[in-house]
Amino acid sequence: MALKYADRLDQIQPFRVMKLLARANELQALGRPIVHMEVGEPDFPTPQVILDAGRRAISSGLTKYTPAQGIPELRRAISTFYQTQYNADIPSERIFITAGGSAALLMATALTMNVGEGLLMSDPGYPCNRHFLTTLGAHAELVPVSADTGYQLNRALIANNWRKTSRGVLLASPSNPTGSVISRAGMVDIADEVSSRQGHLIVDEIYHGLDYSDEKLHSVVEISDHCIVVNSFSKYFGMTGWRLGWMVVPEFAINGVEKLAQNLFICPSSIAQYAALAAFSDEGRAEMDRNRSAFKQRRDYLLGALKALGFGIPIEPSGAFYIYARLPEGSANSEAFCHDLLERYSVAVTPGTDFGHFDADHYVRFSYAQDIELLRQGVKQLKQALTT
Ligand SMILES: Cc1ncc(COP(=O)(O)O)c(C=O)c1O
Repeated sequence: MALKYADRLDQIQPFRVMKLLARANELQALGRPIVHMEVGEPDFPTPQVILDAGRRAISSGLTKYTPAQGIPELRRAISTFYQTQYNADIPSERIFITAGGSAALLMATALTMNVGEGLLMSDPGYPCNRHFLTTLGAHAELVPVSADTGYQLNRALIANNWRKTSRGVLLASPSNPTGSVISRAGMVDIADEVSSRQGHLIVDEIYHGLDYSDEKLHSVVEISDHCIVVNSFSKYFGMTGWRLGWMVVPEFAINGVEKLAQNLFICPSSIAQYAALAAFSDEGRAEMDRNRSAFKQRRDYLLGALKALGFGIPIEPSGAFYIYARLPEGSANSEAFCHDLLERYSVAVTPGTDFGHFDADHYVRFSYAQDIELLRQGVKQLKQALTT
């Protein structure tokens, strides 16, 4: 009997970076030290106060199902966070705790998209978003973006690319892979354009907190009550493996998201939720802010070093922990470049083709979620690759 999985899986590409990571680990197991500049998670451990709170949750038996929307204490803590961080009044009824930003993105797309409809998003962009849509019978409507618009969508791009099937727009600010940020004024324009088309606006803010410019980063909740915001404890809060995130939804969506949360997940991890209560403590925030300073220092170093090696980085990335760089003149296409760099020079980076199609062959993504001394070593080996 020849069993075959559903056709929709043919539309879902595997993460190329995972194959690269597997090969990097294989080489490492054979005794070859590899400089990892491909990974998308902080190298810092989860802050100590969160670890302690997680242990306490286990020993107190807080290991049962929780409400589908998440525990009220954590939703209230996030509501207070919006007040202190963004001066925004978000009632905890509009906040859902989710299994990472991933579950929030899945529910945001399930909430808004009918079969055959599309969501405008930037190319390059975070690849899983396209695949959430495919899984639901909807599709991504990719809009090429370049340095000209700061690697982000703007009002004009949305207006010019809106189709009959378009149902909304999905943005990430700061973005993966480019680290670019949408200004408050830019976001006001976008929210206005999308609303004039009766579209949904979904904004992924999971790299908030990891922003390095002197200008304050604004959340779209300050601008509109009608958009859907996705956030996560993975990146700034350093909790990737705990699988915890949240979403802020408009009033009209509360019942719908509750149904999705109940049916798709029952609830987020209880232990992770109780641990995350400590994430907003002064001690927790102090540790996260120290980590953020280290990221900034690494970004500044790597930016200079890559430019000196001939990589094209026309816009300084102001958030996340990535640099999306154009390959120096004369370098082969990005997948061949990454393959060669790993096999011959022991440095792992991600090919641009993981993030879309537009000009992707000429780009690679460097992650600086790695100790600065290792980054220096990586740059040394990169230099050899480019000069030999
Ligand atoms: C832009 C973006 N959104 C969402 C996610 C999902 O992260 P998580 O599910 O760990 O919150 C990632 C992970 O790298 C990401 O880069």
